Amino acid sequence: MIIFKKVADIQNYISIQKEKGKSVGFVPTMGALHEGHISLIEFGKTQSDFLICSIFVNPTQFNDKNDFEKYPITIDADIELLEKNHCDVLFLPSVAEMYPDGMELKTHYDLGNIENLLEGAFRPGHFQGVCQVVERLLRIVLPDKLFMGQKDYQQVMVLKKMIQLQNLDTELIMLPIKRSQAGLALSSRNARLNQENLDHALTIIRVLEKIKSNISKNTFETLKKDAEDTLLNNGFEKIDYIELAQQEDLQSLPIWIKDTPSIILIAAWIEGVRLIDNILID
Ligand code: PAF
Repeated sequence: MIIFKKVADIQNYISIQKEKGKSVGFVPTMGALHEGHISLIEFGKTQSDFLICSIFVNPTQFNDKNDFEKYPITIDADIELLEKNHCDVLFLPSVAEMYPDGMELKTHYDLGNIENLLEGAFRPGHFQGVCQVVERLLRIVLPDKLFMGQKDYQQVMVLKKMIQLQNLDTELIMLPIKRSQAGLALSSRNARLNQENLDHALTIIRVLEKIKSNISKNTFETLKKDAEDTLLNNGFEKIDYIELAQQEDLQSLPIWIKDTPSIILIAAWIEGVRLIDNILID
């Protein structure tokens, strides 16, 4: 695996590869890599001539300073994992390299209502920061295909919109959530939980599955109340949202509508760690 830290160096390498007619696949990450990231890399490699992964903990997408400071950094283990899984290129820039003109947003992305829903309501400014860094990364890496996970469903929708707004020539491919054997959605934030809370965290997928299997028989309101109680009785201290929404635009659905592809999304706190997860109803 080749590691680049400088924008000019990776750009030079990519332009040589593109001149040879090679297609580029890209998996952007903030490090603390796990099997979820590896599944994106593995699939990405089957779809491209070479695969680039980036690791950059982007300060501009953290509305909570505490969350930024506690974000796990495991660069040596990440590099080892990437090499073991045959990633071709790692882009590992510094903050100065990514934001040579400072971190203020130069572009305001007109994302529409999706920016204010769900994650947007609890993390103001988050999606503007995500768009800022991903646009910059895409302009550096020029990938033909970008691979992202369904765990961050709203992020995927937002980035699809950004790609369209900025006329970028990249296809975004969303891949299913990678879960532990017991069902916990893999996340870098899981590394901050002790074993007892990792066990408790499984309550999220349990309540998601329960809502999904009962959605045609009960009102969403009743199922949501039951899910809230279950989470709060199993180690969760706070629930940001449990929402039923349309897959298409994440507009909230107060009741389930047969034949409307929908999604149930949860964000909840355990041991001071905010976890998100979702399940599709097709
Ligand atoms: O999902 C993430 O890890 C980040 O939001 C991303 C897409 C790498 C941008 O910093």
